[in-house]
Amino acid sequence: MNALLVALLAPLPRVADAPDLEPAPGIVRVELTAAPRPDGTAGFVYAYNGQIPGPTLRAQRGDLLVVELTNALDAPTTIHWHGVHVPWAMDGVTWMAEPVQPGETFTYQFALEQAGTYWYHPHFDTERQVDGGLYGALVVTDPAEPVADDDLLLVFDLPEEVMGEGDRHAHGHGHLFPTWLINGAPAPHDWTLPAGSHTRVRAVNVSGAGYLALRYSGLRQIASDQGLLAAENRRSPVVLGPGDRADFELLAGDEPIELRTLPYSLNGGRAHGDAIPLVSFALDGATDRPEPLAWPYSGAAPSPDPGHTDLLYVFTGSDRTGQWFINGEQFPDITIESLPLGADVVVELRNVSPTHHPWHLHGHAFEVLSINGERPEHQRIEDTLDVPIHGTARLRLVADNPGDWMAHCHILPHAEEGMMTVLRVGE
Ligand code: C2O
Ligand code: CU
Repeated sequence: MNALLVALLAPLPRVADAPDLEPAPGIVRVELTAAPRPDGTAGFVYAYNGQIPGPTLRAQRGDLLVVELTNALDAPTTIHWHGVHVPWAMDGVTWMAEPVQPGETFTYQFALEQAGTYWYHPHFDTERQVDGGLYGALVVTDPAEPVADDDLLLVFDLPEEVMGEGDRHAHGHGHLFPTWLINGAPAPHDWTLPAGSHTRVRAVNVSGAGYLALRYSGLRQIASDQGLLAAENRRSPVVLGPGDRADFELLAGDEPIELRTLPYSLNGGRAHGDAIPLVSFALDGATDRPEPLAWPYSGAAPSPDPGHTDLLYVFTGSDRTGQWFINGEQFPDITIESLPLGADVVVELRNVSPTHHPWHLHGHAFEVLSINGERPEHQRIEDTLDVPIHGTARLRLVADNPGDWMAHCHILPHAEEGMMTVLRVGE
């Protein structure tokens, strides 16, 4: 890489972790304050503990997480634990529950039974508050997995202010490309890897409407929404819609690693143009590329598709009207579908609209049986899944968590327009 290019790259900022205020093992206790950000830049008008992204919460599988949220905003707020199987009362939704009022404190508390890369964000006036800067990551490590030399979090955001109306339009048509923020600072960035090291990169897409299609040479995806994959994925690009996560293992050998995103948009998938540089990983020294760590992949095969459908969600709407529907309905005027606790069902998502929709279900994970009829090679467990334009996804869902769970498109303007429903899981 030439000197000029190096000079243009800003070093990647690392997101500060939240200190664990509880000395006892097995409990992680943190304090988060949601407050206005007086010097708001790039459209960020709020922050948790004054930082964007908010502090990274780090815990081990099996720990009890205790988060004391203070609302110093001038509006109600909540925290939703995206992808985590929390008890319903801890889910941070305002459907049948009260938000945390300005000046109030609320304690979220739950056991972390799953390892993986999760994130947290408000679920009240969600589009405004998340776009405003209220988001952070929750990293749950698994004592059964090897530990990389570094655990590097990349939180991707595409704020509307940075995107701009003009860019937004162009992005949709695939000609010009917006600037992603990584850990709050505009890409591209550089980062130096010690030669011979292993880095676990955790990518989280918190943007309201931006799609990433990540690639780099030698790509190794090791985990997705719900932790370790059943087998390593080497296929690129790895598409991350809003709300999605993926972990990669970087092996620092004798070649720099260029992480890029292909131009990709919710209006039509892969768009024209060159890949957009995100992070340039330089090597400090040269050595042979190390062997991957011994990840305990299960190798599990996907479940068979029983062929019937228990629950059908049909997505309709159009950019022209800005109206989006699930089964012809808009939240809160919705039909609540109910499942008995423990039900093992097939859910079909049928997208008959001209836009992708990343579907997210609270309080549960689901297995992907097929997308457009194509079965995954290995068992694939997610909590957020992109349903392509005019595409169909079939899922297996075990309704193992009682409550009234939100199910919605994670494109925040779509959710705001009512592209959201409730799935009731009985006691
Ligand atoms: Cu990440 Cu209902 O949301
Ligand atoms: Cu949508």
